Amino acid sequence: MLSRRETILSALRATTGFALAASSPFGTLMAGEAAAQPAARTRLPLGAAVRDDPLEKEADYRDAIIRHCSQIVGEGGLKWYDLRPSRERFVYDRPDRQLAFATANGMTLRGHTLVWYGAMPDWTKSISSAAEAEREMVGHIEQVMGRYRGRIKSWDVVNEAIPDEPASRSDIRPSIWQQRLGESHIALALRTAARVDPQAQLVINEYDIEFVGPRFRRKREAFLRLLRDLKLRNVPLHAVGLQGHLRAEIPIDKEGLSAFIAECQTMGLQVLVTELDVVDEKLPGPPEVRDILAASRVYDFLDAVRAGSPIDSILTWGITDRYTWVPLYFKRADGLENRPLPLDRDYRPKPMLRVIEHFLRDRR
Ligand code: GLA
Repeated sequence: MLSRRETILSALRATTGFALAASSPFGTLMAGEAAAQPAARTRLPLGAAVRDDPLEKEADYRDAIIRHCSQIVGEGGLKWYDLRPSRERFVYDRPDRQLAFATANGMTLRGHTLVWYGAMPDWTKSISSAAEAEREMVGHIEQVMGRYRGRIKSWDVVNEAIPDEPASRSDIRPSIWQQRLGESHIALALRTAARVDPQAQLVINEYDIEFVGPRFRRKREAFLRLLRDLKLRNVPLHAVGLQGHLRAEIPIDKEGLSAFIAECQTMGLQVLVTELDVVDEKLPGPPEVRDILAASRVYDFLDAVRAGSPIDSILTWGITDRYTWVPLYFKRADGLENRPLPLDRDYRPKPMLRVIEHFLRDRR
């Protein structure tokens, strides 16, 4: 008789050609042999991005968040597009409700995000000078962080500053802020944030830095250049956020990622995983096999991050496959549902949850 581990591994080989060493720590973990671990707690220090609609209307969704999470972040609500329908108006209803939910359930809310090229309302296109850009950006941070001072303790101050294909190490992604103020807008945003809430954890959040390949290596290099520069100039910055939107078909550059993280640690930066999920558009095989492949990517990713530095927290971008951004951009050609998250659409735990729990338990 084959053991459970052997059954899983041979199914993987047969359906996908994907070879997992039977003796790998991941293989052992999936086979339930990760010796003498405490029984699963009902409440893990995991976090997830939440959607307002199901949070208000669906008990199962709410229960899953309460059961599994100790922190949440709004998928939307604090983005400019949501908060600032016009230059004059700030609409705080959604983040206020998210914060009330978090507080009522003993969780924290992360702030996402203050400076980003994306989700910008149309009126911001009319910002036409450096002085106007500075006034708008600084004013926004003062208003929004000021309102939640002491209550939102960790902020993605800057999101996605590095381009997908950096032309050089000093390349910064175009945005209205970059266009009007140049790279100095990043330091200005961080300094403003530190002034408004000196206790808050200030984070720069980025994606696509974990994979094998020259494009991703260049992205890591450009990101490091920016981080070093900010640190050299004593700009307040406490942590690096790795979004971790993993692509199932691209391997993790374990060495490259660990070296990147280790360098962040030498700069005194903490490391957060902020938006973990697995884009499974191209993953072959039936759902239960895909779930294991996805979990294996998450394992490789978290293992490489942890080799460079302790992980301060792990948030996934959603909790259940029922509600995820992935099919909007990465629908599967076979018509099957995407399965990027730790719980399936009926809130059953998937192997990915087990992997995340393993790393949360093992925090060092
Ligand atoms: C980026 C952003 C998030 C969210 C995700 C997925 O990672 O930081 O706010 O929009 O993409 O859509």
